[in-house]
Amino acid sequence: MTDQKEKEWKYKAGSYRKSEYVEHAKRIDYTELHSEMNEEERLFINGLIRETRPGRLLEIGVSRGGGTVNILNAINDMPNSKLVSIDKSDTYYGDDKVRVGDDVFKTFSKTENLTLIVGRDASEVLPVLGEKFDFVIIDTAHVHPVESLNFLCALPYMNEGAIVVFHDISLFYRKSYEGCSLATRILISALAADKISTFEPSTTYISDHERVYNIAAVQITPDLQRYIKNVFHALHIPWEYYPVDDMLNIRALLSKHYDNDCLRIFDNAERVNLAWHFSSGKTYSLDRLARIARELPDDTVFYGAGENMRYILNMYRLFKMEFNYTIWDTNHANIRDINGICVSAPDFDLHSETCGAMVITIGNVEIAAGIKILFENNGYKAFMMEDFLSINTGVGAGAGVDTGAGAGADADTGAGAGADAETGADTETGAGAD
Ligand SMILES: C[S@@+](CC[C@H](N)C(=O)[O-])C[C@H]1O[C@@H](n2cnc3c(N)ncnc32)[C@H](O)[C@@H]1O
Repeated sequence: MTDQKEKEWKYKAGSYRKSEYVEHAKRIDYTELHSEMNEEERLFINGLIRETRPGRLLEIGVSRGGGTVNILNAINDMPNSKLVSIDKSDTYYGDDKVRVGDDVFKTFSKTENLTLIVGRDASEVLPVLGEKFDFVIIDTAHVHPVESLNFLCALPYMNEGAIVVFHDISLFYRKSYEGCSLATRILISALAADKISTFEPSTTYISDHERVYNIAAVQITPDLQRYIKNVFHALHIPWEYYPVDDMLNIRALLSKHYDNDCLRIFDNAERVNLAWHFSSGKTYSLDRLARIARELPDDTVFYGAGENMRYILNMYRLFKMEFNYTIWDTNHANIRDINGICVSAPDFDLHSETCGAMVITIGNVEIAAGIKILFENNGYKAFMMEDFLSINTGVGAGAGVDTGAGAGADADTGAGAGADAETGADTETGAGAD
């Protein structure tokens, strides 16, 4: 992109408050709607759309649809403009009786220019759509690394020159969010791009006292793409949330569109955060855990297909280990599979001579204890999740022998052996450059 084009973009961004654009926005009365943006922020998005007239628009994070209404109104006289809106949830986070996008259907009788996709993550949806977008609005979980992952997954599906708007870049200054919700600020800080915001910072919603900007837009330029590795590096900032269900899709999408350096940084950041979240903040070593996992007897059964099991499968993927064990869950008919591994009904009648080891991954300690007694009586060598995580489990031959050598050693290779000095520095040595 030439300097001239970048200048034009800044000029366009500054034109968002042209009186004709403001007039257009005022067609919608928000008093009965549930907008999660203030008026100035809505005008900012409306004006950018009116000025740049994008053909394909993408919104990630819909909630009740106040933002979607604003976008649909902005394009309502642009017959060639179409909006795709994605939300990971199908119900509003504040009330599960309200469906996502509810305000849109209350406001418009026809929504042919909208494709609303709910209950799925962008990493699953975007590769299937295969479309490229000119205007993107990201307003999702606000817990790191969600916005960064949303952006990295959407970037390959943006045209050069596309405009991306980020909302809630200062949410952490709001009293009730203090100390968290840094996700969007981390992301925009890592982007090599000029950031454009509203004329005036917000004095409401975020803080009654200080004036902070809470919305920003960037344009996709070659520079932004050249320095995208900065966003991967920022993934080393501790994750407030580990997206246990989406990692398989996210990793698959990233591996298609980013180079090996980026992927190595990503894997290392995921690894350290998986270890942290998997064990609720206790610093279990994934190397050690992987060593135990590698040495499990072939006939091991994992009992429970909930969150712990999903963490375990992510660990297998991260360490490039095949998972060839059986997963049992009484809710198998609904769950069916996790990450492509079949979940089947527990067999309570197996005789002791056919029984091997069992790892009970159920989170509820009392239920897990009951299952343990039941299957021990059936002849299983059963372990609670805590035992599996502990070095003294004795489940596998290598367990309890914490030499630091052996099978676990190769697990560090991917992270530490990178040619990129910074990448290697982010390993467990503690000498992180970040
Ligand atoms: C702050 S609200 C969106 C508000 C909306 N943009 C507006 O202006 O009214 C955040 C929404 O993002 C959704 N969300 C959270 N994580 C997500 C993800 N990874 N992908 C898509 N949507 C996500 C939540 O379900 C929630 O509905």
